[in-house]
Amino acid sequence: MTGSIILIGPMGSGKSTIGRLLAARLRLPYVDSDALIVAHTGVDIPTIFEIEGESGFRERESKIIADLASRREPIVLATGGGAVLDPVNRGHLRGMGRVIYLEVSTGEQLKRIRHDRNRPLLQNTDLDARLKTLAEQRNALYQETAHWRVLGDGLRSDQVLRRILRHL
Ligand code: S3P
Repeated sequence: MTGSIILIGPMGSGKSTIGRLLAARLRLPYVDSDALIVAHTGVDIPTIFEIEGESGFRERESKIIADLASRREPIVLATGGGAVLDPVNRGHLRGMGRVIYLEVSTGEQLKRIRHDRNRPLLQNTDLDARLKTLAEQRNALYQETAHWRVLGDGLRSDQVLRRILRHL
């Protein structure tokens, strides 16, 4: 196991916010796999989904994760909510260091991302039902991939951060 910290969990679980705080505290580089995809393509995530479909986005996501896993220097990595769908990604993420599952209920997710426009999987749909379906499909994968999990419901980011720091 190398020394990176990898945050996984559903949309709205706070991976980017907590990742940034954690990286600053630990003086490690912060990396966001979605942001890398956007930087490489030069377009936003909804546009990638529009042009290449979800499968095109997943290919890009897997390539970025494989590339990050091949590097030596420790980082704090915030992943996209679907990064755990690919079993190869799951192996890469676990191999990079400590994988933390930021767990939140769908009720908490709803509060945080009700008016989101940047997540294609949540557009033009019954948000509550969609979040529940995604949770049914993915929660076991988050569990299986993570070394440990932190429950984020009702907590501010600084409180989640403190819980993580206590465990490290
Ligand atoms: C996705 C989550 C998003 C982004 C893309 C797909 C997903 O990242 O990767 O819209 O499948 O759950 P966040 O979890 O950071 O919102």
